[in-house]
Amino acid sequence: DDPATDPFQVARDAARQIADATGVARHDIALTLGSGWGKAADLIGETTHTIPATEISGFSAPALEGHVGTLRSVLLPNGKRALVIGARTHYYEGHGVRRVVHSVRTAAATGATTMVLTNGAGGIREHWTPGTPVLISDHINLTADSPLEGATFIDLTDLYSERLRGIARSIDPSLDEGVYCQFRGPHYETPAEVRMARTIGGDLVGMSTALEAIAARQAGMEVLGLSLVTNLAAGIQSTPLSHQEVIDAGKASGPVISALLARIVAAL
Ligand code: 6GU
Repeated sequence: DDPATDPFQVARDAARQIADATGVARHDIALTLGSGWGKAADLIGETTHTIPATEISGFSAPALEGHVGTLRSVLLPNGKRALVIGARTHYYEGHGVRRVVHSVRTAAATGATTMVLTNGAGGIREHWTPGTPVLISDHINLTADSPLEGATFIDLTDLYSERLRGIARSIDPSLDEGVYCQFRGPHYETPAEVRMARTIGGDLVGMSTALEAIAARQAGMEVLGLSLVTNLAAGIQSTPLSHQEVIDAGKASGPVISALLARIVAAL
C-alpha cells in the first residue's frame, strides 16, 4: 500500500513463493472463483498443492464467509496448470485497488496468459432467474478507481475476449451475455441506482471483477468473465436483498455452474 513499493515487484515475489511452494515453475491459466463457483476447483483437475493465501506476499485473509482463502495449483487433464484463486480481496474492504488486483498480477507473474474471473451478481434482466450463469461481454466500472497508476493509457476494447466467449458458448450455446457494472459496495444498490445501471447499458450489478479485468489486460492476459445471477437486483425483485440469499443461491447452483466452468476450462 506504500506508494514507494512497486506492486509488480510484490506480485513477482508472490509468484516466486508459489513456484517454491508447489514446485510448479509456470501456471498457464488462472481462475478467481467468486460466490457460487468454488466447487469448480475440484472439477477442473487434480489439486496438487493448496496454499493458505496469507502465506504468500500481498494477500490478506478473506473477509467473508463463502470466500475461501487459499491458492491451489491444479493439474488439468490436458497437462496444463491452473492457479485457482479462492482469495479475492474486494474493493469495499478498503485496502485500496493494489490489493484488489494483486492476485491477478501474481497470476500473470506465474506465467498465466488466461484469466478467468467469476462472481456472484445481481441480475437486471427479469428472465435471469437466480442460478443463471451469464458470460460477461463488457463492463462499466462505477468505482471511480483504476488499478493503473500514472499516465498508463491502455485500450479496453474486447477486454472480455470474444474468442474465449466463443469457446464458452460452444460448450453451452444457451449462455447469455451481459454487461457487468462494478459498484463499490458493500451495500447493495438502491432501486434508482439499478435503474441507472440498466439505462446506461448494464445487465448485471456486482462488487468485483472490473478492476481485476483491467489489471489482467494491463498484464497482457486474455480475460474470460462469468457471473452467476444469485438474485435479481433491487427494484427488479420486489423483496429486500440479503447476503444469505446470495450465499444460498450460490450453494444451490454451485454444482451445475461449476461443472459448466470445468467443461469450459477443459476447452480453453
Ligand atoms: Cl443486487 N448487487 C451487487 N452490487 N452485488 C451483488 C448483488 C447485487 N447480488 C449479488 N451480488
